[in-house]
Amino acid sequence: MKSRNLKVIITVLVLSLVLGLGGGLVYQVQAEEYIVGTSADWPPFELVDENGNIVGFDADVMRAIAMVKGYDVKIRDMSFDALIPALKAGKVDIVAAGLTITDERDKVIDYTNPYWDANQGVLVRKDSDLNAVTALSTGHKVGAQRGTTQAGWLQDNLVDEGVDVQLKLYDTNDLAIMDLKNGRIDSFMADTPAARTFNSLNPGLKMVGIVMTGEHLGFAVQEGDPEGLLPKLDDGLAELRVRGIYDNLKEAYFGATSDLDRITDCFAKCRDYLEKEEDPAAYAMNLRTCMAGEDE
Ligand code: ARG
Repeated sequence: MKSRNLKVIITVLVLSLVLGLGGGLVYQVQAEEYIVGTSADWPPFELVDENGNIVGFDADVMRAIAMVKGYDVKIRDMSFDALIPALKAGKVDIVAAGLTITDERDKVIDYTNPYWDANQGVLVRKDSDLNAVTALSTGHKVGAQRGTTQAGWLQDNLVDEGVDVQLKLYDTNDLAIMDLKNGRIDSFMADTPAARTFNSLNPGLKMVGIVMTGEHLGFAVQEGDPEGLLPKLDDGLAELRVRGIYDNLKEAYFGATSDLDRITDCFAKCRDYLEKEEDPAAYAMNLRTCMAGEDE
């Protein structure tokens, strides 16, 4: 009888060990998944490539941080002014969209450490006589995307100060650029790197100046960080900097030689480093080389 009892005990022990291990494995496989909200009409921060993939600096930084910190991300595209309401409502967990850190926004959401500095570039048509000062003065039509700091700056510093400009707000940058090219507005403002990119992607436009607003961009989470994401994002960002991943992604998307027309090809060529090999360092390095055209 005794030995039978022992057998039962051993069987139970072995079983619970196997089940316990199994449970542990299942637990490890199901990594946490977070939804990242973005506004993918802001190259080079975020854009949709010709195959429908959301790419760009913010998107890749989000994927790389998730990889080094061991969670999954799903990137969801929406209009810029829907992002903060979506975050507040818990429909997205993180916002990565070139978001300027402002006191007003800081009251309703929380930010990571700044990851980028930007000012506001002023675009006009190539054949226009306007400069950055005259473009933003009486009698002119100025455009910006709804809900952005550009829209806020134009409202606060021109409209509210009695400057007789007509401010047109757009849901997407593509519509604004089209109106600028067609003469329905005289100028358009966007974060400097995006304005430079719109300039290089649209030969009919030129950038005539920069309004020095001195903005710092951060990633955002819900007020009070209920999911404990800020430490993951800040530590992850620091790790990307130390490992050179941040710099390679920065050069790939913002570098002097980077040509966003190449992004569809380069992402297609490099995505396996990220998705199959799960090696964000190799991805960033190869993307940089490809975007600079040095792999040909
Ligand atoms: N920095 C501006 C703001 O926070 C524009 C943000 C949109 N930029 C972007 N990359 N999606 O209002």
